[in-house]
Amino acid sequence: MKDSLLINRHIAEYLSSLEPDLPDFLEKLYQKARENRVPVIRREAQSLLRFLCLDRKPGRVLEIGTAIGFSSCFTAEFLPKGSVLYTVENYEPRFTEAQENIAAYREDFLTRNGYASPEIRSVFSDAEEYLKELCGKCESFDLIFLDAAKAQYPAYLGHIKKLMAPGAILLTDNLLQEGTLAESKFTVERRDRTIHLRIREFADMLFRSGEFDSVMLPLGDGMCITRLKDSDSYPVNPGEGCQS
Ligand SMILES: C[S@@+](CC[C@H](N)C(=O)[O-])C[C@H]1O[C@@H](n2cnc3c(N)ncnc32)[C@H](O)[C@@H]1O
Repeated sequence: MKDSLLINRHIAEYLSSLEPDLPDFLEKLYQKARENRVPVIRREAQSLLRFLCLDRKPGRVLEIGTAIGFSSCFTAEFLPKGSVLYTVENYEPRFTEAQENIAAYREDFLTRNGYASPEIRSVFSDAEEYLKELCGKCESFDLIFLDAAKAQYPAYLGHIKKLMAPGAILLTDNLLQEGTLAESKFTVERRDRTIHLRIREFADMLFRSGEFDSVMLPLGDGMCITRLKDSDSYPVNPGEGCQS
């Protein structure tokens, strides 16, 4: 699996070399995912997730797309004490492996640090069903990491919007699709046109609907950072102003 798709290998390697080393457990989990061709967050994209966690100190995080739990554990490593991360996956073998990896990570964290890692609640569900359930419970999150089946992103966004706490950040991975997002649909392979259309639709919602402020960065396969417009006054409080 390539580490970077949008910037040349030389620059990607240099950027990766600036990154602090991961704890052994996380490095091994990352290498294992790559060897088994499990699509996990790329090295340079990890730096952005790490930075956002350290800078914003989110108490409640939602991840959509667990795979084998690498990014859940990676994120937990940089969250403040007492925070909680929910993560959802719909492919059972990966969900099961993620549960094992998360349990092992939490033990490793405790041994290294002498206190418990942030809680990681791993959920087996279809993402949209789970988003609806969370909306129904008026849950809210400070950071949402969207990293699942891209064709479904437009359908998720209305739910995600309701789940964003005041000042929350939505981080979306793989949006540039190896750069093909910038291509006309006629130059995209016929079999990829639906996904191309859906991601374009999603990007339009993030950038042109007037509801969000977003910035797209060419890290990994394209990372997009989004906040709700005027989100500091956005009236979402658990149990108040919440409409599912
Ligand atoms: C790119 S991988 C996630 C990688 C993970 N975030 C990481 O960096 O370690 C996307 C995952 O989303 C899962 N997925 C796809 N569609 C889904 C859906 N509708 N509901 C829940 N999970 C889904 C896939 O099975 C896959 O494991």
